[in-house]
Amino acid sequence: KKYDPYRPSARTFDLITRDARVLCHDLMPKPEEETRKLALLQRLSNIANEVFGEAEVLPFGSSGNGLALANADMDVCVFLNTKPGFEEVSPVEFVERIGDRLEKDPEFENILQLTRARVPIVKLNHVNGIACDIGYQNDLAIWNTRLLRAYCRIDERVRDIVVIVKMWAKRRKINNPYMGSLSSYAYVLLVIHVLQRRGVLPNLQSIVVGNGNIPFWDCQGFNRYFFEDIPNLARYWQPTPEALGQTVGELLYEFFRYYASEFRYANQVVSIRSGGLLTKEAKEWSKEHTQTHQQQSFQQQQQQQSEKTAQTQTPPPSDGKPVVKNRYLYCIEDPFELDHNVGRPVDRYSTNHIWLWFTFDAV
Ligand code: CTP
Ligand code: MG
Repeated sequence: KKYDPYRPSARTFDLITRDARVLCHDLMPKPEEETRKLALLQRLSNIANEVFGEAEVLPFGSSGNGLALANADMDVCVFLNTKPGFEEVSPVEFVERIGDRLEKDPEFENILQLTRARVPIVKLNHVNGIACDIGYQNDLAIWNTRLLRAYCRIDERVRDIVVIVKMWAKRRKINNPYMGSLSSYAYVLLVIHVLQRRGVLPNLQSIVVGNGNIPFWDCQGFNRYFFEDIPNLARYWQPTPEALGQTVGELLYEFFRYYASEFRYANQVVSIRSGGLLTKEAKEWSKEHTQTHQQQSFQQQQQQQSEKTAQTQTPPPSDGKPVVKNRYLYCIEDPFELDHNVGRPVDRYSTNHIWLWFTFDAV
C-alpha cells in the first residue's frame, strides 16, 4: 500500500466512527414521519384511482430503500393498468391530468408539472409537510430501489456511510441535479462502488444461483436481474477479513480519498453492475452531446417522417437553449439502464467543484 500522509490516526478514526453513529441516529426519520408518509401515499392512491380508474401507487427512492434522512422528499410512482381495453396514457398526459386534479385540492401546494424532464413528474408539497415527486410507470426505478435496499441489507455500515455522505453533499450544496450537481441516487452508487472495491460489498448483479450464465430478466429492455436472497448470500459470497474489520470512519475516509485522488474523472466510469470501473471509450461515452429545443423536436419529426418519406431537410438553426444534454464529464453508469449516465447533470464547473470538496474534506 502506498504511504498516505493524510491518513488520520487510529484514534481519529474511532472518534469519526463514534460521531458518525450518533449523527446517523439523529438523522433517521422518526416513526411519526413514516406515519405521515403512509397517509400521503394512501391519499395519492385514492386520487390516482379517481382520475384513472385503476391505479397502483408505489414508493421508491429513499422512501423505499431505507436510506432516507429525516424530512426527505417522498418519491412515488403510479402504475396504471396497461392491459388491452384500458386507455393508454402517455407520461406527459399523466402528469397533466393528475397535476390538474391536485391543483384543485387545497391539501396540496406548490404543484409543478415537469412535462419536459427526462422522466416527466409532478412535484408538490402536502400540507402535512411532506414534499413529494410523482412519477409514472417507471418499473426500472422500482427495481433500482430494490437493488439499493439489498445492498443495504448486506452490511449495516452501508446505511451509515450513505446517510453521512448524503448529509455532507447537502451541506456542501452539491446534491441538486437541477443545479448541475449529483443526485442522492448518484452518491449512493458512488458509495457502493467504493465498498465493492474494498471487499465490503459483492456485485449482486453477477452472483448466479447454480452454474449458469447471468439470467436475463427483461424490464423495459434492460436486464433487471440481481441476487436478492440476502439471508443466503453467505453461500455465494463473503467479505474479506480485512473488509470486516474496517470501521465506518475508515470507510468514510476511503470514500473521500478515492474520489479525491484515485478515480480518474477524465476517462473512467463508475459501474456497480460490473463491480468496478469501465472506460468512457469502451462505453462510447466520450462525446459531448448538446442539442437545443428546435434541433431536438426537428430530430423527432425526422424520425417520425423517415418512416413515411426518405426526404431530408436541413435542421433549424440553434436557438441557444440547451435541453437534451448527454454530458459525459462525471460518469456513473446506471446499474440497469446501461446507457444512462447518472452523472449527466454535472457540467464542467460542478465536476471541478465536487472534486474540490472531495479533496478538501478528505484531508
Ligand atoms: N433515479 C433514477 N435515475 C436518476 C435519479 C434517480 O432512476 N438519475 C431514481 C432511483 O430509483 C432513485 C430514485 O429515483 O432511487 C430517487 O432518487 P433520489 O431522490 O436522487 O434519491 P433518494 O434515495 O430518494 O434520496 P433523497 O432521500 O435525498 O431524496
Ligand atoms: Mg428522493
